[in-house]
Amino acid sequence: MQLLSVLSCIYCLFISCMAVSDSKPKVETKGFLTIKHGDDIKGNITVGLYDAVTPNTVANFKALLKNNDSSMGLINSTSNRIIANFMAQFGFLNNDRAANYHIFQDQYPDPQGFPDEKGGLALNHNKYQLSMANRGKNTNSCQFFITFQETSWLDGGYVVFGEVIDGFEVVDYLNAEVKTSRGDKPVKEVKVVACGVIQNSQEENTDATLEQLDEL
Ligand SMILES: *[C@@H]1O[C@H](CO)[C@@H](O)[C@H](O)[C@H]1NC(C)=O
Ligand SMILES: *[C@@H]1O[C@H](CO)[C@@H](O)[C@H](O)[C@H]1NC(C)=O
Ligand SMILES: *[C@@H]1O[C@H](CO)[C@@H](O)[C@H](O)[C@H]1NC(C)=O
Repeated sequence: MQLLSVLSCIYCLFISCMAVSDSKPKVETKGFLTIKHGDDIKGNITVGLYDAVTPNTVANFKALLKNNDSSMGLINSTSNRIIANFMAQFGFLNNDRAANYHIFQDQYPDPQGFPDEKGGLALNHNKYQLSMANRGKNTNSCQFFITFQETSWLDGGYVVFGEVIDGFEVVDYLNAEVKTSRGDKPVKEVKVVACGVIQNSQEENTDATLEQLDEL
């Protein structure tokens, strides 16, 4: 009797572990980037962010979405490196290829960047993923990329912190239609002409599915 209940308890634990590792990270905050290519507005890329998995990375990214000073925000920043079937790299504040502003400058002054978050390093680079660009370990700042394909060779080296949830056609456009020249730089500028955090208050931070599993 005793043994049976211990066994069934272990089995429970096993099941809930499996459920955790199988589940996709939860999107909490949402944001948007309005993309212009040359003279044409191409539309919004809507992104979903993994606040609980990568809290510092998401806090930094949200601040970049909201700041109306182009030296500290994504407003008017460019995507200066687009490689078809691979990714588009964003976050070139004021069109600067060396831009490395972030909100943790006090703790991690220039040119260091802020540390990688383990939860984000553990996530896979699937298609349409948001991940931090870096210059080696623990050098995160304002630059990030959106994948056009699964890029599994990047897993563990870059902090995945979100995914595209709408505006896939804008991402597909960047992949298929943007002509680039030396250094994979778009011939006609690809620019973020508006951006921000989308407020939605009704979502509560409860994970009902996991709680139910624990009770079984
Ligand atoms: C992009 O999304 C924002 C926020 O939802 C909205 O205000 C804006 O009109 C959208 N822009 C385009 C070009 O769809
Ligand atoms: C963004 O660029 C536009 C066009 O050059 C300019 O009018 C606007 O002031 C800029 N916005 C910011 C926040 O720098
Ligand atoms: C953002 O900055 C631009 C340029 O500096 C300015 O024209 C605009 O009024 C500002 N918008 C807000 C909401 O502060």
